[in-house]
Amino acid sequence: MCGIVGFTGTGEAAPVLLDGLKKLEYRGYDSAGIAVMNDSGINVSKVTGRIAGLCEKTDNGAKTPGTSGIGHTRWATHGAPTEENAHPHLSNDGKFAIVHNGIIENFSSLREELKSRGYVFESETDTEVIVHLIEMYYKGNVREALVKTTNRLRGSYALGVICTDEPGKIFAVRESSPLILGVGVGDNYFASDVTALVAYTRNAVYMEDGEYAELTNDTVKVYDCTGQELEKEVSRITWDVQAAEKGGYEHFMLKEIMEQPAALKATIEPRVRDGKIVFDELKDLPDVLKNIRKIVITACGSAYYAGCAGKYALESLGRIPVETELASELRYNNPLIDEHTLLIVISQSGETADTIAAMKESKSRGAHVLAIVNVVGSTIAKLADHTIYTWAGPEIAVATTKGYTTQLSVLYMLSIWFAQTLGTKDVDTGYYVNLLKSLPRLIQQSIDMNPSVSGLARKYHSNRSLFFIGRNTDYAVALEGALKMKEISYLHAESYAAGELKHGTIALIEEHQPVIAVCCNERLIEKTLSNIIEVKARGAKVLALTISGNKKIVPVADDLLFIPPVDELFSAAVEIVPLQLLAYYVAKENGCDIDKPKNLAKSVTVE
Ligand code: AGP
Repeated sequence: MCGIVGFTGTGEAAPVLLDGLKKLEYRGYDSAGIAVMNDSGINVSKVTGRIAGLCEKTDNGAKTPGTSGIGHTRWATHGAPTEENAHPHLSNDGKFAIVHNGIIENFSSLREELKSRGYVFESETDTEVIVHLIEMYYKGNVREALVKTTNRLRGSYALGVICTDEPGKIFAVRESSPLILGVGVGDNYFASDVTALVAYTRNAVYMEDGEYAELTNDTVKVYDCTGQELEKEVSRITWDVQAAEKGGYEHFMLKEIMEQPAALKATIEPRVRDGKIVFDELKDLPDVLKNIRKIVITACGSAYYAGCAGKYALESLGRIPVETELASELRYNNPLIDEHTLLIVISQSGETADTIAAMKESKSRGAHVLAIVNVVGSTIAKLADHTIYTWAGPEIAVATTKGYTTQLSVLYMLSIWFAQTLGTKDVDTGYYVNLLKSLPRLIQQSIDMNPSVSGLARKYHSNRSLFFIGRNTDYAVALEGALKMKEISYLHAESYAAGELKHGTIALIEEHQPVIAVCCNERLIEKTLSNIIEVKARGAKVLALTISGNKKIVPVADDLLFIPPVDELFSAAVEIVPLQLLAYYVAKENGCDIDKPKNLAKSVTVE
């Protein structure tokens, strides 16, 4: 939800911190701050709003000289987005400054305790208890004080700390929040995400829960809570700076929509060998499958909707029952999950708190967990029994696009893999492998076939409310299409199974009400067409998304978006693209902050 960054080196810290924060701004963007240390102590600078304001306030860092420091970009949880609540927070004695990503669940009892001991609080945040605890436990050794402090905390945290007694040193701790160390030459770093590091180094150390790091300009040391130094592997970040930049596009979202053909290629191609799907990641899963009676897919938001669309392919090709369950609901449902359940967890970030909780709950009931994740080394990837990476590259826009379609492509591959592994009768796996391989091309066509989408956005952007309808896989796409529209354009967008309208919702259809009808599933075109006619009869204005050459819809719909014909089982990945573009252009017409929509953050690490 928030982003943290730290730097120690031979050059100035502030410009590196500000640059890192710009890269992390997608994680949270209601306030920001840096703390830089030099001979005269710690200099803190904070603003409400965006990093651009912090750059202005510090004159791009020139006003905060020093060679080590920490920074933070915030998505408010405890306390409003004010300067007082912005990080870094200082200890009362001014010796320590900290930044924190995560939530301290027991902060209020700690706050009372610290107040009774005379500590004065400047903010309403949960974070501030941490810096006072550090001051309380500090007896000359920062790491020891950090261990004692973290022993008192319940919740999740990635912490960055500086101390005036340790010039040139930065400290970091991780528990259930992402934290990566960047290993440079004469400069070292930490950050919530590798996007903040790639401009400086490609050498990364992924910290695990319960680990403590101490960095100077030429050393990177990681310890466990007993003070034992750990041998950590240095991994190579495989993508470059350009991958995390806009590359000439006005917004990351548009760039990421356009990247989908390449992203799906990267996901699919290495896993197709000799006309078969090969998952090196799933070597011992075939044995586990002998005992599996059902699959449960759990996730949040778009990742959940990918699961809803993927369920059709998994059930059709694998012939195993598949249930989908929102992660935020699953853990409170006393779920029927046991050692005969394969839990498929889907998450772009790999850090979503609800998804992690659902996964832990299911594991405790004996489920075998297979995760589909984009961010390498993330919490979900580490906790799962098996992880399939989507390899979509960095996704910066808060609204997911290539994250969602690459998740779908993995679910499609899994459905073929199940058919191969379980020997499902009457499934021509070769046909589906070819279909899968054609998806990047079909997605490109789906982009190219809709040059009029920005014009349609001008026609529809001023409506306050939109309905999305569809049947079966088209319904799953309608769910995701409506979410895209809501989150970036702030229009009310509601999705319904087309056949369900007449059971109540059709009462809302009146003159000029826009209805986006997803009508690509050839088997069901006539059925959805009759629902389109029902809403048209009540005055609705219909924008239909359908397959090119569908002559039945053309005379009925007011406006049209097209995709190339594609088998219904794998069509969601192609169908969603014009709806992503529609949401993008509607948001643009409405002057919305497309990459950083209000009230949202890229990875939702609170329940
Ligand atoms: C998608 O556009 C949303 N920003 C959101 O629904 C997202 O898909 C959800 O929060 C899950 O995130 P994850 O894939 O990182 O777990």
